Amino acid sequence: MSSINVKVGNVDLKSPLILASGTCNFGHELSEYYDLSILGGLSSKGLTIKPRQGNEGCRVAETASGMLNSVGLQNPGVDFFIENDLDYMRSLNTGVIVNAAGHSFEDYIAMVQKLNAHKDKIDALEINLSCPNVKAGCMTLGADPVQVKEIVTLMRKETDLPLWIKLTPNVTDIKAVALAAQEGGADAVVLINTLLGMVINIKTRRPILHNNTGGYSGPAIKPIAIRMVAECSKVLDIPIIGCGGVMSYEDVIEFMIAGASAVEIGTGSLIHPTLPVKITEDLIKYTEDNNLDLRDLTGTLELW
Ligand code: SIN
Repeated sequence: MSSINVKVGNVDLKSPLILASGTCNFGHELSEYYDLSILGGLSSKGLTIKPRQGNEGCRVAETASGMLNSVGLQNPGVDFFIENDLDYMRSLNTGVIVNAAGHSFEDYIAMVQKLNAHKDKIDALEINLSCPNVKAGCMTLGADPVQVKEIVTLMRKETDLPLWIKLTPNVTDIKAVALAAQEGGADAVVLINTLLGMVINIKTRRPILHNNTGGYSGPAIKPIAIRMVAECSKVLDIPIIGCGGVMSYEDVIEFMIAGASAVEIGTGSLIHPTLPVKITEDLIKYTEDNNLDLRDLTGTLELW
């Protein structure tokens, strides 16, 4: 029997396709375009303890085969989210993944405690140890395996909700960071967040982004993400959620062969809001044509 259902650890998803954090807010806007229940899940905008206005000035720049963002974690704060958006996300009849960010260990622990109090409405916590656009926490913490293990260990004590750790590619050895997350008790890792980049306006000779740098996403980063998923798949016991440059069903399949159990789409859905519908239809057709259970593809890569 063909199927596109997948599992990430104990979490059942009706499709491998998840909308990446920061590209779908909490689902309100995109739900006007299509029925989000076809998706495996939706990852919320990165939330913090206090509301954040985000970075000032220009925050998005288009580039060849992608874009840079330096949003700076603009969000209404976790309490507002719990009160106003969590039930809405739950009503969408798809996986509810809540992306949580912080500036310090204390922030992350407080976030997990607050969200754990609503665990009946949440399928997984995606812990953002990777946003490159803030001065403290996130990537600054998530690039160091020692701190990653420590923070994941502390969060693990606070919840039995699945902890998916979203990692930064801006490191020398992604395996070391992913293994640190596993050792701390993570249930899965999400690979990858954006690559740190810069674009310059040649007239002003200044960076286009007012934060100077931003996170690079889109089709150009896919080979890097695939390489990192493949490397980590060989050493991890926990599942991987792939992310980076997905534009087609073939990209989803490539991530799964590399070792991903599920796959997030971000920039592709910003360019074409209904692209996830087309990818889902194509995945169903692919599994039917090949009489395939999609999850059987995970980690079937054979290296030369
Ligand atoms: C941002 O809000 O700056 C992007 C979030 C992220 O990269 O995790």
